[in-house]
Amino acid sequence: MLVGVAGLALAPLARAPFACAQERAVPRPPSIEGREPVDAMALTREERRHVPVLVLPRAVRAGRPFDFVAQIGVEPHVMTEAHYIEWIELYLDAERVFSAELGARVAYPIVRVPLALVETAHLTVRSQCNLHGIWRTRRPVPVT
Ligand SMILES: [Fe+2]
Repeated sequence: MLVGVAGLALAPLARAPFACAQERAVPRPPSIEGREPVDAMALTREERRHVPVLVLPRAVRAGRPFDFVAQIGVEPHVMTEAHYIEWIELYLDAERVFSAELGARVAYPIVRVPLALVETAHLTVRSQCNLHGIWRTRRPVPVT
């Protein structure tokens, strides 16, 4: 269960006045579906550039804040006018707790989100590439 989500560290940067990101209405599907790697131990080139990589502390203690980091791609996805990550979302279980819209002027598709959990939760990060669709990574976060 989520206790609270303190400040959204990268949100101000991610929501900076990039006209290309703000003028575009990005549709959000109602579910938390997305493509996942077929074989996590043998990623394809497309998967290596789109699957969200989650960085978590080794241990999460109940109620203690920690920084969660998500980067889009083992090799960070390119961010150009023609090809870029449009948005990144974070869910705890089925609840969306963070979202950021990105534009081609954002150098890297990476976000840091301070979280605090009181019990084990499933964390899902989704992102959308303007050319290659929605991708996701899900992982349980054990809380001690
Ligand atoms: Fe892409």
